Amino acid sequence: MEVIIRPTEEAAAKLTAKIIADAINDKPEFKLGLATGATMEAVYAELSALNKANKVDFSQVRTWNLDEYVGLAPEHDQSYRYYMNKNLFNNVNIDKRNTHLPDGLAINEELEAAVYDESIDEAGGIDLWLVGIGKSGHIGFNDPGTSLASRTHVAYLTNTTYEQNKIYFNPPESMPRRAFTAGVGTVLDAKKVVQLITGERKADIAAAAIEGPITSMISSTALQMHPDTVVILDEAAAAKLKLRDFYNEVFMNDPKWEAYR
Ligand code: GLP
Repeated sequence: MEVIIRPTEEAAAKLTAKIIADAINDKPEFKLGLATGATMEAVYAELSALNKANKVDFSQVRTWNLDEYVGLAPEHDQSYRYYMNKNLFNNVNIDKRNTHLPDGLAINEELEAAVYDESIDEAGGIDLWLVGIGKSGHIGFNDPGTSLASRTHVAYLTNTTYEQNKIYFNPPESMPRRAFTAGVGTVLDAKKVVQLITGERKADIAAAAIEGPITSMISSTALQMHPDTVVILDEAAAAKLKLRDFYNEVFMNDPKWEAYR
């Protein structure tokens, strides 16, 4: 696991977007895993700007998102399909037919989940999966107790996650308690994982996720077992990391990061 700390949230998001854009430029038929949440808005704004400036081409890119609320239609303004269209897909030259999210209205949930994993496998796997982290330490909606070998499934959300996300709903109590999520195992299958963590409110969970023991109580810790994961944080989120100085030394001296400093 590589850890990069940037001074500000903006710098962290820009570095994340550059890693993604460079990877797409190396392989135009890119299979990209995506995430939602407030943290990712700056990344999608930067990718949209790079696309507008002709610095990255999404025409052959195919995407799979981590999750979607059960019961929300794509037009619902809190659905993750709506979020993705608004923050990225509407702003870049991607073919929307190449963008995948679980169908929140699927009648057969088990089938929907199985077909989602199959569609990733049929495409040859995800080249890079961008993930955030929830207050509960989740990636996707893999809340505490979820198997670290899980595949895409419907999850019942914990109170921590309900409290974290219901503020976006009007009324708050209308937030669904269940959601489709790619499993921890689904994410671990990606060739590369890039995790973005910003803000003071994430400092405790970032330290536990990056430097704590691997446990299904914090699904993000499973990324420690992934052979190619880069975690990018801003100073505020990195405040409680023990090896901060070491991570900074590596980033400033390792030639592989030269173009990103
Ligand atoms: C939701 C998503 C996660 C995301 C988390 C954090 O719970 N399912 O994938 O990482 O929100 O969101 P934020 O960036 O708003 O803190």
